[in-house]
Amino acid sequence: MQIKVASRLNLLPPYLFAELDRLKREVQQTGVDVISLGIGDPDLPTPAHIVAALKRTADLPVNHRYPDYQGLDRFREAAAGWYKRRFNVTLDSAREVCALIGSKEGIANFPVAVVDPGDIVLIPSPGYPVYYSGCVFNGGEPYYMPLRKENAFLPDLSAIPAEIVRRAKLMWINYPNNPTAATAELPFYRDVVAFCLKHSIILAHDIAYSEIAFDGYQAPSLLEIDGARECSIEFHSLSKTYSMTGWRVGFAVGNAALVGALGTVKTNVDSGVFQAVQEAAIEALTGGDETLHQYCAIYQERRDLMVAALGALGLQCATPRATFYLWVETPKGYTSVSFTERVLRETGVVITPGSGFGKGGEGYVRFSLTVPSARLREAVGRIQALRL
Ligand code: MLT
Repeated sequence: MQIKVASRLNLLPPYLFAELDRLKREVQQTGVDVISLGIGDPDLPTPAHIVAALKRTADLPVNHRYPDYQGLDRFREAAAGWYKRRFNVTLDSAREVCALIGSKEGIANFPVAVVDPGDIVLIPSPGYPVYYSGCVFNGGEPYYMPLRKENAFLPDLSAIPAEIVRRAKLMWINYPNNPTAATAELPFYRDVVAFCLKHSIILAHDIAYSEIAFDGYQAPSLLEIDGARECSIEFHSLSKTYSMTGWRVGFAVGNAALVGALGTVKTNVDSGVFQAVQEAAIEALTGGDETLHQYCAIYQERRDLMVAALGALGLQCATPRATFYLWVETPKGYTSVSFTERVLRETGVVITPGSGFGKGGEGYVRFSLTVPSARLREAVGRIQALRL
C-alpha cells in the first residue's frame, strides 16, 4: 500500500537540526574529525546536585506512576519561587504555571490551544523553526516579522500591515534571541504588550536563554510589564540554564486562561513529566546557581575567544550579552547555505545557515559555543586555512 501522510507534513521544510545531524554523520563517516558548532546543546554536564536528586528519587515507586498532568504542586511552586527571586514576578502556581516536557513541547502545543484555521501567527524571522510548525499544523497562516540588524534584531511592529494586525491571533517573540543572540529590554516589552493588548493578540515569549548571560547582564521577563499578564504566556526551559537538554523539562507561566488552555491540550496528548525528573528540576530551581555562574563564565571566555578569532578572519559579529550563539555575517560571495556547506565539507566544522531559521536569517551563519575552547581554536584554525 502507498502510505499517504497528512498534507500538513508537506508544509514543513526538513527539520533544521535533524538535517544538520544527517550532514554531520555523512561527513563523520568519511573519517573526518567533525567539530559541531551547530545545535545549541551544552557540552557542560548537568550540575551534580541535580543528577543526585534524580538518582535519589528515581528509585521511589511513587515516581513510577503517571505524573500529575500539569506538574507536581511542588514543581510548580518551585517555578513560581524562581520567578519571584529572579524577576520579582509573583505567580499563582496553581493557575499560572504548567510543567512542560521541555519548552519545545509547549511551543509546539500552544497553537493547538489558541490558533484556528485562517488565523495569522506573527513569527520572527529568523526564528526557532517550531514557531512555524506549530502555526501551520493548526491551519494558521504565518506572517514573518523580520529581525534586522538596523533594528537591533527587534521586530518593527509599525511595519506590520493593518490587515495582518486585524487577523493576527498570536505573536511569538524570543529574547535573549535564538539565533541572533540579541537582547530586549523593558521598553520593548512595554511597547509589544501595549500593541498586543490594543489589537487583542496573544503574546507568547520564548525565554529559554534568559540565564545564559555575560558581563553582569540580567535579561528581564515580559511578565515584569504591567498588563502583560492580560495577554501573555512565557515559555521557560531548564535545558540551557542547567545543561539539561536531554531531560526534557520546562514550564509555561503567565495568563491563567492561556496556561489552562495549554494544560487542556497537554492533558489530552501527553501524561506529564516523569516525577523524578520534576524532583531534579525542583533541585535545579531551588538548589543555588553556583554552577550556572561557573558555566556562564566558561561561555563568556569562549565568546571572547571566538569573537576575536573570527574577527581576525574578517568574519564579523557583535559581542552578545546573552545566549551561547554568535550571529556571524556570511562572507561576500556566499549564501548562508553555500558557506555552511563549504565549511563543513572542507573543514569538518558544523555551523548553522541563517536561512535555516527563515528568510530573515539569510546573510548570516550561527556558531554555537558549546564545545571547549581548544576545539573552538581548532575550528577557527581550520576555517582560516580556507583563505576566505
Ligand atoms: C538550537 O540550536 O537552536 C536549539 O538548541 C534547538 C532546540 O533547542 O531545540
